[in-house]
Amino acid sequence: MSGVIRLVTEVPGPKSRALLARRAQAVPRGVPAVTPIAVVQADGAVVTDADGNRLIDFGGGIGVVNTGHRHPSVVAAVRAQLDRFAHVCFPVSTYEPYVALAERLNQVTPGSHAKRTFLLNSGAEAVENAVKVARAFTGRQAVVCFEHGFHGRTNLALALTSKVMPYKKGFGPFAPEIYRIPFPYCYRCGEADGQADRRTGGRCCMASRERLEQIFASTVDPDSVAAIIMELELGEGGFVPAPKEYVDALAAFARDHGILFIADEIQTGFGRTGKLFACEHYGLVPDIIITAKSLAGGLPLAAVTGRAEILEAPQPGGLGGTYGGNPLACAAALAVLEAMEAEQLPARAARMGDRIRARFCQWATRHACIGDVRGLGAMIGMELVQDRQSKTPDKMLTVRLQAAALERGVILLSSGTYGNTVRVLAPLSISDEIMDEGLNAVEEALDAVVPSRP
Ligand SMILES: Cc1ncc(COP(=O)(O)O)c(C=O)c1O
Repeated sequence: MSGVIRLVTEVPGPKSRALLARRAQAVPRGVPAVTPIAVVQADGAVVTDADGNRLIDFGGGIGVVNTGHRHPSVVAAVRAQLDRFAHVCFPVSTYEPYVALAERLNQVTPGSHAKRTFLLNSGAEAVENAVKVARAFTGRQAVVCFEHGFHGRTNLALALTSKVMPYKKGFGPFAPEIYRIPFPYCYRCGEADGQADRRTGGRCCMASRERLEQIFASTVDPDSVAAIIMELELGEGGFVPAPKEYVDALAAFARDHGILFIADEIQTGFGRTGKLFACEHYGLVPDIIITAKSLAGGLPLAAVTGRAEILEAPQPGGLGGTYGGNPLACAAALAVLEAMEAEQLPARAARMGDRIRARFCQWATRHACIGDVRGLGAMIGMELVQDRQSKTPDKMLTVRLQAAALERGVILLSSGTYGNTVRVLAPLSISDEIMDEGLNAVEEALDAVVPSRP
């Protein structure tokens, strides 16, 4: 038998089901279980479940293991650090891995200006802190975010997050002074009859100073805005890349109004889009860039990096936390950044993206339920619809496809405000053979859940 997928029971098997039953009695249902499997081992792009089934991981722990599960140099770096110390608290005593990582992030993030970086535990915490810093620097309170955006689950991050169900429902009141503007989601653009649809070669209809001024005129005074926070390609919002001309127009608008540009690169970051950061596709140098997820290859770590004068605005003691920049996570992140460079993972992501896109587009010729295929580099999504005319999102089909893929040995994630975008977040270190094996299984799953059109 060739290939890495090995299914020795139905998926989920009895041992996974037993642990999920225990979980249901011990853990609240609010914490989702996207797949019904229990994992006992993960290496590279392959996950082994409690029943001994081997599956290909197209989810990467939601975009966290771009360097692959248990990358050998990440494991070695964490072990070596653990032999020295696991925690002293950076605000109490300084240690080199934190400083080295800050230096490295200052160097690899866009822009050659003087920068500072501080470290936190999660993406949401980085989002909150970026906003704190922006407010401290500008002396302004308002923050502008986007429809379909996702920035985390803490209170301020939730206020910035767009999707109501399941993230926001019942959890208000949310932080004030947050203003939401439309994201340039060309496939579903309500303006100009969707004439801006990228595939028709149209220009984004929101990409002009006049249109931005109109939008702000009924939203918030731009001169009271501390920052705009944006995912250049929506992650949880359905893998929608913003058109370059829109980002150009927005960045110029922000600059002219003294508004800081915060790029949330938590999901787009670390090679996923074919560049180390999505900003690089846009020639954008953000004032603040926030990273997390793949930064530390599986250990919890997040960073806020930005212009030195902005990051120096908060008073001593205003930033930090007990665990932020934990030494084990810093050691892991330094190894991740080395591996990214040594293995040229951003370039690999670009090639991988071409491969995935070609397959998705090929499937679209047979399946009218594939409404759109899009994304930068390996951050490719496929939006499923009931029909191409109405573009009605088909969430149920997406759920069925995920289940059918899992039955065939592939962990597949969805995203999108309407839950109808299939997204690939496989480790960038995955071989072409394993990627093809996974794609073959997803194709088989697609053929099983939706009949082909002649
Ligand atoms: C773009 C973006 N921002 C923020 C977050 C929140 O990160 P965390 O779950 O680590 O708090 C996420 C998580 O998916 C994300 O994709």
